[in-house]
Amino acid sequence: MTTDVYTHGHHESVLRSHRWRTVDNSAAYLVPLLERGQRVLDVGCGPGTVTTDLAERVAPGTVVGVDSSAAVIEIARASAADVAGVEFRQGDAMALPFDDDAFDVVHAHQVLQHLSDPVSALREMRRVTRPGGVVAVRDADYSAMTWYPASSGLDEWMTLYHEVTEANGAEADAGRRLLSWTRAAGFDPTGITTGADAWCWATPEERSWWSGVWAERVTSSAFARQAVAYGLADDVALEVLADAWRAWGDAEDGWFAVLHGWVLARA
Ligand SMILES: C[S@@+](CC[C@H](N)C(=O)[O-])C[C@H]1O[C@@H](n2cnc3c(N)ncnc32)[C@H](O)[C@@H]1O
Repeated sequence: MTTDVYTHGHHESVLRSHRWRTVDNSAAYLVPLLERGQRVLDVGCGPGTVTTDLAERVAPGTVVGVDSSAAVIEIARASAADVAGVEFRQGDAMALPFDDDAFDVVHAHQVLQHLSDPVSALREMRRVTRPGGVVAVRDADYSAMTWYPASSGLDEWMTLYHEVTEANGAEADAGRRLLSWTRAAGFDPTGITTGADAWCWATPEERSWWSGVWAERVTSSAFARQAVAYGLADDVALEVLADAWRAWGDAEDGWFAVLHGWVLARA
C-alpha cells in the first residue's frame, strides 16, 4: 500500500465536505461520456457519494470504488448498502488490483493532488482502462482559489496548506498541472481534452457550511495534526485560522470560489 501521507485524513469534518459531492457538482465534465452498461472504476473514492451516483447513471453497468484507506472503504460500503451495481474495496492508485483493460471509464476526483507520483498513477489508470476507454481526472488548484472579503487569516491558511502538502510530497496546485501530467504519462495528445470549472459558495447557507467545515478541519483533522507535527503551526495558530474561517462565514458579502482543472484522456 502507498506510503504517501494523505493530507486531509478522514475526520468527520472532512467526510462532511466529501459527502456533499455528486456527479453534477464534481464530475459534470464526464457526463457526456457516461453510458448505461459501462464498467467504471473510481480511484480514491473516499466516502463514495460520487461513486454511487456514477453507479446509478451507468446501471445496469458496474462501478468499483477503491481507496487506500480501509476505514473509509467501510464507511462507503455502509452508505451504499442499498445501491445496486456498486462495490468498494481497498486498493492503491499506484498498483490497482485489477487486470489490464478491465474498465471503460477510470475516474479520480481530488486524488492526484495527494500523490507524490501522479504521473505513475495516471499510467496505472490507463493500464486498467480498455483501449478506447477514458481516464477522467479533476483536481482543485489551491493557489487559484479566491474569496471576498480579503482575510489575512485565510491568506495564512493558504500558506500553511501549501507548506503541509509540500512536506507530504503532494501538489496543492494540481489543477493547472493535469494536462502536463497526462502528457507525461504517455497518453496520445490527440485523445486528450481539458478544461476548468469551479465551485462557488456565496449564500448564507453555503457560507455557513463551507466555513464550518474548514473551521473544524483546521483544528481537528489530519491536516491540523500534520501542521503541528511538522512544526509549521501550533494549536493557538490553528485556532486563529478557525476564527478567520468563521469570520469569513459571517460576512454578509462573503464569496469563495474553488477552481478545478479536469482532463479526459483516451486510453
Ligand atoms: C480528497 S479525497 C477524494 C474522495 C472522493 N474522490 C471525492 O471526491 O469525494 C482523496 C481520497 O484519495 C484517497 N487516496 C489517497 N492516496 C491514495 C492512493 N495512493 N490510492 C488510493 N486512494 C488514495 C484518500 O484516502 C481519500 O479518500
